[in-house]
Amino acid sequence: MTIASITSSRPFRLVQPQGVLHCGSVSLEALARTFGTPLYVYSADQILDRLQLFQQAFTDRETLICYAVKANSALAILQFLARHGAGFDIVSGGELERVLTAAPEAASRVVFSGVGKTAAEIDQALGADILEFNVESETELELLADRARKLKRKARVALRVNPDVFAETHPYISTGLREHKFGIDIRRAFRLYKSMLGSRWLEPHGVSVHIGSQIRSADPFGAALERVNKLVRQLDRAGISLGSIDAGGGLGIDYHGGSFDAAAKVREYAQALQSALAGFEGRLLLEPGRFLVAQAGALVARVLYVKRNGSKTFVIADAAMNDLIRPALYQAHHEIVPVRPRSGKARAVDVVGPVCESGDFFARDRGLPPLRPGDLIALLDAGAYGMAQSSNYNTRPRPAEVLIHGRKTRLIRRRETMNDIFAPEILATET
Ligand code: LLP
Repeated sequence: MTIASITSSRPFRLVQPQGVLHCGSVSLEALARTFGTPLYVYSADQILDRLQLFQQAFTDRETLICYAVKANSALAILQFLARHGAGFDIVSGGELERVLTAAPEAASRVVFSGVGKTAAEIDQALGADILEFNVESETELELLADRARKLKRKARVALRVNPDVFAETHPYISTGLREHKFGIDIRRAFRLYKSMLGSRWLEPHGVSVHIGSQIRSADPFGAALERVNKLVRQLDRAGISLGSIDAGGGLGIDYHGGSFDAAAKVREYAQALQSALAGFEGRLLLEPGRFLVAQAGALVARVLYVKRNGSKTFVIADAAMNDLIRPALYQAHHEIVPVRPRSGKARAVDVVGPVCESGDFFARDRGLPPLRPGDLIALLDAGAYGMAQSSNYNTRPRPAEVLIHGRKTRLIRRRETMNDIFAPEILATET
């Protein structure tokens, strides 16, 4: 596959005559010179395009796109999305703090999901008067009622139901089956909604569902939403009318090169949801994460060494599994493109990092153009669950991050220093 076909649906492109990979109109070579490597580079333009695909896909229905903060929680990205009308799906008090810091005006557009909300997190969210709690168990509902009464704040509730729908994806990120820890069995939800009627502090507001992540087909979304819609009709007949349905996130992208028509994907997804929601006139909430930010981002790394062991060639980069864990954790595929491709025959190599584990790899037996020490490479589709899942393993400072908007480059997170890493640690003072 040619580099041009790999990058065709991404904001990263080889720009001639030098043949250097750019993000929009900004050279990745120049960025690496200015900010060092490893470096996360994101295209604000693509993030906005993707957000607008969702915002415009549902004609005749009020929708709110609640970006899943966990996918990439950079404050600057949250601020950017909020300015363009996004709401947020959060799963911790920490993520709520991020939204309140980046875009305090967006508090009223926050939904709070997650199976293990603490009393302190619930209080924090009640205080911020968020849009909706996506409640995942009966005991959480009891705790929420208790905290709301104490704080004298009404909680808007959506039960996150588990629709028992199979979504074909990696087992670690599939969530919609009864055997998973997520949500409330949809068969018990009716009774729980009825139980809320007696409460002064709980307002039945909506229903939510999320069946998993990196789901490529629209069918399971439609199947889940049909079940949810059935529940909503049933509640309606019982006099409980819910104003919103939250369909969760999970729409997948193509991590492999080649053409990927994001607009067509969103259209197909919207159609599946719309027909499953027939008869429901309320508001639709969506929680996309990956689809908005994954392809907008690349992790740029420098080749440190090229070495041969037996029959294998290893390209050792200065980025590692602590910076981008997806290949190690889910055997995920990320396309790798040299920033200034050399001519010559492609050869199968393993691209690895410096961390002391054999699991520290980005690609195995991947055909790549010739690479030499000092060359730059870009790991594509790293905008979602890249930096967000990074760590300091092997005492490696986390990368810097830059956001490209048109011709403008903005450093949105500086590279970590040793001081940042040591700050919370405590040495003995006595000798
Ligand atoms: N809503 C809820 C309740 C979620 O749990 C998730 C993701 C989303 C929305 C967003 O899903 P998305 O649109 O991004 O697929 N670390 C894994 C993905 C974990 C997804 C967890 N939940 C990965 O790197 O593939």
